[in-house]
Amino acid sequence: MPQHIAPKPGPWDGEPRPLFLAPMAGVSDLPFRLLAKACGADVTITEFTNSTALSREAAVSWRKMESHATEIPFIPQIFGGDPGDMATAAEMLAPTADIIDLNFGCPAPKVTKICAGAALMGEPDNLVAMVDGIIERVDVPVTAKMRLGTGQGANNALEICKALEGIGTSRLCVHGRTLRQRYSGEADWNSIKAIVEGVEVPVVANGDVVDAASAKDCLEVTGAAGLMVGRGAIGRPSVFGEIKVGLGWMKEEDLPWIKANAEAWYERSVTSQSFASRRWCWDKYIEFSNHTTGLQPRWMQRHAVAFTKGLPGAKKIRNIMHGAPTPEAFADGISSFLAGKPAE
Ligand SMILES: Cc1cc2nc3c(=O)[nH]c(=O)nc-3n(C[C@H](O)[C@H](O)[C@H](O)COP(=O)(O)O)c2cc1C
Repeated sequence: MPQHIAPKPGPWDGEPRPLFLAPMAGVSDLPFRLLAKACGADVTITEFTNSTALSREAAVSWRKMESHATEIPFIPQIFGGDPGDMATAAEMLAPTADIIDLNFGCPAPKVTKICAGAALMGEPDNLVAMVDGIIERVDVPVTAKMRLGTGQGANNALEICKALEGIGTSRLCVHGRTLRQRYSGEADWNSIKAIVEGVEVPVVANGDVVDAASAKDCLEVTGAAGLMVGRGAIGRPSVFGEIKVGLGWMKEEDLPWIKANAEAWYERSVTSQSFASRRWCWDKYIEFSNHTTGLQPRWMQRHAVAFTKGLPGAKKIRNIMHGAPTPEAFADGISSFLAGKPAE
């Protein structure tokens, strides 16, 4: 079995299975990925990056491929409609990547119009040939993430997964929706189960896992080798630790935000606990940023809004963000807001 990828497990019996932070454009920047790991995620993946831009050495795209020694395994994700550029980008990434992930799930028109992302599922032969060309060129494991199908005609993820397994793809991840559905309706975990049972490589289940209860249901239905969490982790990377606690995979008192506030934790109200856990996450995000990419105001803005969403007084966040003269002042302002006495 390739390094960093465990063989396909048997039926799920309650034992720990790896939790993945989903690749999310505009969300899963390097400090956020490190934060997700600190919160309990086992595997992180970069946001998808245009393989044509990478193959032409575009600096902005290469910045998205930054990692850190502690991000193990390092899994860059690429997308594109040109098989040559996909293989070239993969080859350029291979010396630093532990695994290369390929995106066949993106429904965004700017991606599907170049017949990349989920649109490629409508051309399964081209998709499989593209992956074959990449596997030929790199000596690191190649994995693929896809949807159930395009939504036009019968779903074909199972056939594609079987073909990808046949050419040496090391792991598959399936989001239980079609391209046509985008994010509407519910993820169809039963269709993921059919894929889990239909191939011998590990399959990660994705779609609508947001807490311990949904994680348990998804593992029970699919028997997947792991779970990937996307939207449920935006502003709430603590979801990974919460899932592990809820499924009995770790002790609640070992959650880092509880350890950091150990004495008074259980006397706090639920609101006060939310403030404290999110402050721990925010401060850690800033710490990881300082150690890696430096403070990036655009990323900080997006996370600050997400981290404070739903908390009493969260409207103040915009004033703090826009009134701060420096990124450091912005970081401190959010931290102080999260440390403040919540209006209960
Ligand atoms: C803001 C956002 C950005 C996303 N960007 C990517 C991406 O770069 N690559 C990818 O494979 N999927 C991307 N996705 C899809 C997620 O990885 C995931 O498949 C989807 O959100 C379903 O999982 P969830 O129900 O846990 O959110 C993105 C989703 C969101 C919400």
